[in-house]
This record gives sequence, C-alpha cells and structure tokens, in this order.
Amino acid sequence: MTTPYTTTQTGTPVASDARSLSVGADGATVLHDRYLVEKLASFNRERVPERNPHAKGGGAFGEFVVTEDVSQYTRAAVFQKGATSETLLRFSSVAGEQGSPDTWRDVRGFSLRFYTTEGNLDVVGNNTPVFFLRDAMKFPDFIHSQKRLGASGLRDADMQWDFWTLSPESAHQVTYVMGDRGLSKSWRHLNGYGSHTYQWVNAEGERFWVQYHFISQQGVENMSSAEAERIAGEDADYYRRDLYESIDRGEYPSWDVKVQVMPYEDAKNYRFNPFDMTKVWPHADYPLIKVGTFTLNRNPRNFFAEIEQAAFSPGNQVPGTGISPDKMLMARVFAYNDAHRHRIGANFNQLPVNQPHAAPVANYMHEGSMQYHFNGPEHRVYTPNSFGEQGGPVADPARGVESAWESDGELVRSAQTLHAEDDDFGQAGTLYREVFDDGAKARFLETLTGQGRSITIDEIRERFFQYWTNVDAELGAKLRAAVAA
Ligand code: HEM
Repeated sequence: MTTPYTTTQTGTPVASDARSLSVGADGATVLHDRYLVEKLASFNRERVPERNPHAKGGGAFGEFVVTEDVSQYTRAAVFQKGATSETLLRFSSVAGEQGSPDTWRDVRGFSLRFYTTEGNLDVVGNNTPVFFLRDAMKFPDFIHSQKRLGASGLRDADMQWDFWTLSPESAHQVTYVMGDRGLSKSWRHLNGYGSHTYQWVNAEGERFWVQYHFISQQGVENMSSAEAERIAGEDADYYRRDLYESIDRGEYPSWDVKVQVMPYEDAKNYRFNPFDMTKVWPHADYPLIKVGTFTLNRNPRNFFAEIEQAAFSPGNQVPGTGISPDKMLMARVFAYNDAHRHRIGANFNQLPVNQPHAAPVANYMHEGSMQYHFNGPEHRVYTPNSFGEQGGPVADPARGVESAWESDGELVRSAQTLHAEDDDFGQAGTLYREVFDDGAKARFLETLTGQGRSITIDEIRERFFQYWTNVDAELGAKLRAAVAA
C-alpha cells in the first residue's frame, strides 16, 4: 500500500519529517516528540548481525522447469517432468564481511531454494564440487583462520596456510580456489554444486545417492588476478551490480540442473567414501543426468527483506529428497537454523521470503518473538487431541517420506579410512595435472608463488611447499624455486 502522507509506525499522520518538536525555535527538544523518538529508535535497530561466513552476497528470484523424467529416482513433486517452481538463488563470498570487495579471491556460495508444493527445498552449496573439510568439528576453526587476527583485526596469510597445511584434507578445495575458479568473471558465469551427497527416494521407496550440479548456460568464465585487484578498488559491489543490472535489462541468466546418481548399494564398496565431501565422483562412473533448467528473472524488490533475511538450510528437504551420512551435512542441518534464530529471530521462517510459497504450514509450534502467523481459534494447541479435523493437523507417515540408511555401531570419534582410495591429495593432483591446461597451470603457479611469499613464518612456509609437493611433486619443486627467486 502506498500512502501519500507520512505516518508513525501505528498509522498516525505526522506533522514533519524534518523538524523536531522544541521549546521555542532555539529551545530544547522534548522527549514526548513521539515521532522523533520512534524514528531514532528504529534507526538504531536497522542492522541485524551479518552472516558469520558468507556475509557479502546478492541474489534474485526465478523459475525452475523440469524438462526430463527422473521419476525412477525421486518422487519429489518439484522434480517431476513438467513441474515448475519458484526459485531463489543467493550468491556470496565466504570470508569477507558485508562491505568487502566481491572480487577478492574466494569460493562463491550458491544457495538455491525451490518453493515446492511439498515445502521449501534448499540446496546450499558453492561454485566448487568439494569442500575444505570432512568433519564439522573443524568448521569454526577453518572460518576463524579465514577471517581476522584477534589483536590487529587483519587478515593473515600465515594463519590461512597454517590451518590448511595442518588440515591436508583441504588440498582439493584449495587447488580449486587458488586456481581460475577462485576469481569468477561474475556470479552469472559460475556453476553451482550441492557438493555433498544427498539422497533421493522414488515412489516405490527405492533409495539413491545423488550429487547436484547446476551448470551455467552463460558458461564458466573467470578473470585474472590483476583484473580482480583493479575491480576490487573500483567497484566493491561488482558481482552484485552485474546480476542486478543484467536482470533489470531483461538478460536472464539460466542454469541446467543435473544430477549424478549412485545406486544405494554401490556406496558400501565404492573405491572411496562417497560421503566424503573432499572428493568428486568421476563422471565416468556416474554420468550427469539432466533434470531441468532454472532462470533468474526477478530482482528483489527489497534487498534487506528478501536477500539479507533469506534463511537457507541444508535441512530443508522434501519428501523424495534427503541428506546422507556425510558428517558435514548432518551438522549443517543443525547449524543454519540455529544461526537464523540468533541472526533474525525465533520466527524467521514466518518472514515472506522464508515461508513456503506453494505449500501450507500446519503444526503446533506457536508464539515467540514476532509471531505473525497463528492457527484458527478452533484449533487445539496440543496433539494428540480428540477434536478430529477441527482440532488441527495430524502427521501422515505416507506424506512425510524421509531419507534413511542403515546405521549400527559403537559411538566413536574417528578419522578411520575404510575404502581403498580414501586419501587427501589424489584428486587434487588429478585436478592440477589433468583438468588445468597449461595456461591455468601457469596462473596457478603465479598465484601460489604470491601466497608463498606472503607467509612470514619459516615452519609454515616449509609445510606449504610440502603440501603442494604432495599434490604434485613437480609443482612443489617449481613453487619452491619460484618463491626463492
Ligand atoms: C552460510 C555454517 C559448511 C555453504 C553459513 C552460515 C553458517 C554456516 C552459520 C551463516 C548462515 C546465516 O547466518 O544465514 C556452516 C557449518 C558448516 C558449513 C557449521 C560445516 C559443518 C558449508 C559447506 C558449504 C557451505 C560445506 C558448501 C558446500 C554456505 C553458503 C552459505 C553458508 C552458500 C550462505 C547461505 C546464504 O546464502 O544465506 N554456513 N557451514 N557451508 N554456508 Fe555454511
């Protein structure tokens, strides 16, 4: 609703937006200037805490269309041929704060929401198919090492490389981020990945393990370090501006949604742990299967309400999709909604951007700060109750299909490897040797040389050389020589 005149927050017309109430023209302002007090108090509360990781970002809404029949793998309504769903995609950088330049070298977040008829499905991934870690216990330490030193408040190469070289499982992801993909040309020119293994369940109850791939129809394009540094100085919001302006011009970016599907039983004896998110599944073993395409075609009408307050969670699954026994993913199901309760508030899921747009909400949770939705007066506030349909909703196991797997064992804290190719460096070496072309290899060496020179502690620099020697012996030798030159 647009109103031509200004009002207080409770709708009373106000006399002035420019002049406080004062005792005479030059006199003291008064506490009972209710509108002045309300305006300043509201201003003081404008900021919510920024996201801890992934603070800087931007996003847009769009539409997903399923073009292929994948019903043999999942019963989820959102993935049935011909289905269309509203989507929201938020891109982000990981380490930098709200005002940080978009073109600092980093992994890019790719948070995709499908507003489905069976509730919201979120795939909260990155522009790389792997991650730095395989156990959530290390995540806060990892993020601390990417942020700022306690004393000086400065970012610090020593602490990044200290953490990474003491956590060799990071090698595959660090190879990605120090390579060309660490500097995307724009958010439109990157692929997204679910990165974890998820589960799909079909109408017969058969289970499959899946990896999501979101392939940019604009192509994957990157920029040089020199260009990224120049842009960081000229336009800190370069990616955010590019996305907003291209959608505004009617140039709508699209991504194909594809999945790799692993039969449920394969996981047990695959050559490496398929739930280890530092690994990719070779396409030769599990080829990409197309599901459909989504297109971003609507900018947010309000950045704060629709992007800043967007609250994604890898726990937002729907019947026919679910999580897997990936230790990172299981912890993320807790971590995100906990962050939202702190950052936004207890009823964050009632905000327009977070509530389901194509499915109803019905349960017995209620009240709390900022409650907006409430059940009808005839509903009971507890279940079970004896009032039938009038009393409120009843859980239906036939609808609430969940992912599942066998699990039986002693409680342990283990980094044990059970599969023949469970290692830290193998796939990083393959990425460097077989995927990077000569130009990419040269740029990679140059980036690492700069990184090596910025390390000030000898012991960490020595471990840095060893880390890259473990990825590829020749690369390690070249790097040692280049840093010394
Ligand atoms: C954001 C925790 C691993 C991708 C966040 C946030 C937290 C968090 C607390 C801020 C959420 C908010 O305030 O809205 C964790 C923990 C992890 C983990 C505890 C490991 C156990 C990952 C992984 C990926 C990832 C493996 C990608 C594959 C993202 C993205 C965002 C994010 C894209 C931004 C979400 C948005 O756009 O609003 N993470 N994270 N995180 N994380 Fe993670």
